[in-house]
Amino acid sequence: MIIDPDQIDPRNSYQLLIGSIVPRPIAWVSTIATDGTPNVAPFSFFMGITGNPPTLAISCGPRRGAGKKDTLVNAESSGELVVNVVVEEIDEQMNITSAEFPPEVNEFQEAGLTPVPSVKVRAPRVAQSPINIECQVKQVVYVGNESSPSGLIIAEALLWHVRDDLLTPQNTIDVSKLHAIGRLSGNWYTRTRDLYEIARPNSQPSKT
Ligand SMILES: Cc1cc2nc3c(=O)[nH]c(=O)nc-3n(C[C@H](O)[C@H](O)[C@H](O)COP(=O)(O)O)c2cc1C
Repeated sequence: MIIDPDQIDPRNSYQLLIGSIVPRPIAWVSTIATDGTPNVAPFSFFMGITGNPPTLAISCGPRRGAGKKDTLVNAESSGELVVNVVVEEIDEQMNITSAEFPPEVNEFQEAGLTPVPSVKVRAPRVAQSPINIECQVKQVVYVGNESSPSGLIIAEALLWHVRDDLLTPQNTIDVSKLHAIGRLSGNWYTRTRDLYEIARPNSQPSKT
């Protein structure tokens, strides 16, 4: 079967994209509005870009109807955000925060989450998440349809908070203990418990 995105409805192209790029990590992004209202929402159009300086990207599509999602508004106005890693134990809370609440709603309260002050940014961290990455927004690139573009937020990691038991003596993250989840298509997710290793050519298998 050959599918030409020019010949199909854009919603269908989106479905093809999210069914083909799997599994996707989930950035649970906390931000703060200009009036001080905290916000948190999940984004799976999310990737690391480069390690030096550590930089990541999150794509924030248009709000249903039109306009920007609160995360994008807050990231642009404050220049800061926190990426919280989503693990199995907090998947339901993550899902609650994906509802399109109006800007004045505090999603931490709606989902029963505990905001913890960050060190380098004003946006709070999610206490229930085992890894929080405090970030500074470097750039927002608008991509796609002109009337309702997505905002690709490019942000630099300034500070990591990692639950003690997840750190190996080599300062790597023990993903076997993390239990991160990934998004598939529709309402499907995957766990990260079925791990296996492939040694890189000319390298030794790693110890974690
Ligand atoms: C697992 C998951 C991943 C999501 N990924 C994205 C994404 O990459 N981009 C996006 O614009 N919306 C994504 N959404 C939808 C947003 O979370 C949703 O629109 C949310 O209400 C935005 O909140 P905000 O207005 O507070 O920023 C995702 C939802 C879920 C449940």
